[in-house]
Amino acid sequence: MEDLLSNNLPGTRDLLPEELARWQHVEDCARRIFAQYGFLEIRTPIFEATELFARGIGDDTDIVGKEMYTFTDQSNRSVTLRPEATASVVRAYLQNHMYRGGGITKLFYIGPMFRYEKKQKGRWRQFYQIGAETLGSDHPAADAEMIEVALRLLESLEVKARLLINSVGCPNCRPLYVEKLRSELQKHLADFCEDCRRRAVTNSLRVLDCKVESCQPLIRSLPAITDHLCAECADHFGRVKACLQEAGIPFEVSPRLVRGLDYYMRTAFEIVSGELGSQNAIAGGGRYDGLAEVLGGPPVRALGFALGLDRLVMILPEGQGREWQWRPELFVAYLGEPAFRKALAIARDLRGRGHACYMDFSAGSLKSQLRLANRLRAEHVLIIGDEELVHERFVIKNLEESRQWEVSLPELAEYLRSRAGRNSGTSPRV
Ligand code: HAM
Repeated sequence: MEDLLSNNLPGTRDLLPEELARWQHVEDCARRIFAQYGFLEIRTPIFEATELFARGIGDDTDIVGKEMYTFTDQSNRSVTLRPEATASVVRAYLQNHMYRGGGITKLFYIGPMFRYEKKQKGRWRQFYQIGAETLGSDHPAADAEMIEVALRLLESLEVKARLLINSVGCPNCRPLYVEKLRSELQKHLADFCEDCRRRAVTNSLRVLDCKVESCQPLIRSLPAITDHLCAECADHFGRVKACLQEAGIPFEVSPRLVRGLDYYMRTAFEIVSGELGSQNAIAGGGRYDGLAEVLGGPPVRALGFALGLDRLVMILPEGQGREWQWRPELFVAYLGEPAFRKALAIARDLRGRGHACYMDFSAGSLKSQLRLANRLRAEHVLIIGDEELVHERFVIKNLEESRQWEVSLPELAEYLRSRAGRNSGTSPRV
């Protein structure tokens, strides 16, 4: 039997409390920004019918073709761990008739996704996304707003990134472009890499996304989709760009930007960072006006984005999330059994008043308790010994300011209460 403790499954890992402080900080910022724009949270199942992803994302995509965690459950149903959440959100929107009231529905989600991809820097098999979807609008301002939300989140975290945008056309104009692309590809097929030669037949647009060095000059010489848009798509793209300019959002038009999921129509975008190496996309998204119909619903104009939380945390500046690092306001130290029981009661009372307290159960020496208090970065230590028990007066040490004084219990409670606003070191949730 393989040693269970030597390794995790490839592409999976544990996120430990210290690292999670940065994650919680990002998630908290995201929730705050989503609220500013009217996005409400949705939670869909982690696993869904395989058919949902096969139809929604597209049979010819890498995700559906080779990256899904699919298995048959005990009722002989084929189920899949979600590789992304857009198809699920649209399913939930349709199934729950969220379109009935008319108007726009704005949703966001935070959670794990699963793809059986080759493991490399910035790529996991279980990874986390923060995503948002706007359903029920074809207005170009909705596209620009979606991009603005993603960028505002990065800006609030002081993460620098570039925005790339493109239009991938619609069912009116894209087939003509793909036809042209395919015939160009045929002319030089032998010069492309093996993956491109296969994609030239199965999903020609994806050739544009090839990262192999030797393919790049060839790809640059292929026709650009932006020169082949129908009048409606060209108009939509022009208006999205105008909205971005008006909002002061810099962008680069990247005519070779195609996304790895088939549902996109018109606007497609990616936010990339130079700090990430080859997996440089922090976020990606776009419009998917046809997806609701593909899933059997009425036409719904919609768009969204998802941001890779694992990647974002990798490039988060040092100080970000420090305030989420848990630390006790008060470490209650004790000497002897009666003092231990008193310490428990004091900690219980203060926790009930909303303060973060910590105690060591190992009945170690005062010195070892103080060592632990320092390691936890406790703001204060309260010391309870026999004498303190008799007089009901206790020594409190402020470890940051290296001063100590005596307090009664009511004075202690009042002191901590008066400091509550200044308590920068304790998790904002406490
Ligand atoms: P996606 O481009 O497949 O789009 O994924 C979005 C982001 O998730 C990527 O930019 C990347 O940061 C992160 N990501 C993807 N795969 C991995 C991985 N294996 N390891 C770590 N991070 C990863 C979507 O998923 C669409 N559902 C986005 C969307 C929402 N479009 C419209 N609405």
